[in-house]
Amino acid sequence: MMQTYSFEQQFQPPTQMAPDSYLGKIISLLQGIARHEMTGVCMYTYFQLLISGINKPQISEVFEKSAAESLAHYSQAVQFMLLYGGRSYIPCSCDPIVYLNDPQTSISEAIRAAINHEKTAVESYRKLFSVTSGKETELTNWAQTQAQAELEDLLEFQQILGVV
Ligand SMILES: [Fe+2]
Repeated sequence: MMQTYSFEQQFQPPTQMAPDSYLGKIISLLQGIARHEMTGVCMYTYFQLLISGINKPQISEVFEKSAAESLAHYSQAVQFMLLYGGRSYIPCSCDPIVYLNDPQTSISEAIRAAINHEKTAVESYRKLFSVTSGKETELTNWAQTQAQAELEDLLEFQQILGVV
């Protein structure tokens, strides 16, 4: 059963937990995943709008789907983080947007950014899997499922890059 916290509790300053403790590592990994997924929400939403304006409906749909997936993954990561006692605010970065301020951004550049993003996601979930394997059944299963899902997304973007 998921523990619930008040709004004030959830946005307390970072929990004083030793970052090198087992629990601290899990929370830190989940925070990193949540940040990365929210970056994906921003990045893929922007890509989707960018691409839809230049009449590439199939690629635009892939980005739209990726943005929705990233939001779902963000939500799951935050729920796990709360479950494990992490209640600190998660600053989100949309740094990849900087990449898109260049008006010359092409579809292939956007897809390369997506590929890099998915590679990092796969690594993050694999790291979480290796840290929790054999100890946290639900979290480990989730990490494994996520790593596979991100790998499939990565392969999809690599295939798209081959045909644009
Ligand atoms: Fe994701």
